[in-house]
Amino acid sequence: MTAPATVAAELRRRLANAHAPYSKVHVAVAVETAAGALHYGVNVENAAYPQGWCAEASAIGAAVTAGEPALVRVFVASDLPGHIWPCGGCRQKILELARPGCEVVSLSPDGAAETRTIEELLPLAFRLDPTDR
Ligand code: THU
Repeated sequence: MTAPATVAAELRRRLANAHAPYSKVHVAVAVETAAGALHYGVNVENAAYPQGWCAEASAIGAAVTAGEPALVRVFVASDLPGHIWPCGGCRQKILELARPGCEVVSLSPDGAAETRTIEELLPLAFRLDPTDR
């Protein structure tokens, strides 16, 4: 398991790569896979606003592209003060690939970490097979 402080430093560097000229909110995410690798993503906004996407979507896309879709931890950092948490749509995206108990770790700019499981963040989630968990 990667130490949150190590990931936090890398995410802080990558905030500068976010394409966020409209909201000016820079978000960087790392997903840790069952294979033990980290895959990174940033938010990518668009002049046609709904065409932009979240940092979580970028990072999940990188993990799936690398052939490592099983998520065990998701680290989220932004330049907003305090802790941010994934939007509703991204909670569903994380759940799709999450191992049970997958942790979402929110890293504030001062380096503090707060953790919730994806099941805590998205209770009563939609599942195609409602008997699944
Ligand atoms: N955003 C993310 O990338 N991830 C989150 O968890 C919350 C919000 C982005 C979307 C948009 O580019 C900007 O932050 C402001 O909403």
